[in-house]
Amino acid sequence: MPDRATIDDLFAAAKAAQARAHVPYSRFPVGAAIRDEAGRVHAGANVENAAYPQGSCAEAAAITRMVVEGGTRIAEILVIGEGDVLCTPCGGCRQRIREFARPDTPIHVAGPEGVRRTFTLDALLPYSFGPDNLESAGDAT
Ligand code: THU
Repeated sequence: MPDRATIDDLFAAAKAAQARAHVPYSRFPVGAAIRDEAGRVHAGANVENAAYPQGSCAEAAAITRMVVEGGTRIAEILVIGEGDVLCTPCGGCRQRIREFARPDTPIHVAGPEGVRRTFTLDALLPYSFGPDNLESAGDAT
């Protein structure tokens, strides 16, 4: 793999993670792969639970891996799902991505055949709340 991962690298990593998703309830495997600020790739899959609300999304897993592996910024993220409908990140995951991304950070949405569409974070989560909101409120206390 080159120093700076390509979209093809992200797609391959997300697809490999998707193949390991634990989805006995929805049967809807999702994979996600992040390129961090250093060009490294961190992938995750959704992991469901018999106590349904305890299941977690692929993006959350990829973000956790990025953090524990030393990444601090999402330069780019790719999400892969199945079916004809675009597997865009859920609302909660848009907010999770927001924590580590910028408004123009690309979010690639893929199906089994490859990337279908690319959005910016700002397009999927406009007028978002993030760390800068808290920083700008610091003077008020
Ligand atoms: N899922 C994700 O992993 N990411 C998303 O952004 C959307 C939904 C998962 C959660 C659940 O395991 C399955 O897809 C069906 O909702």
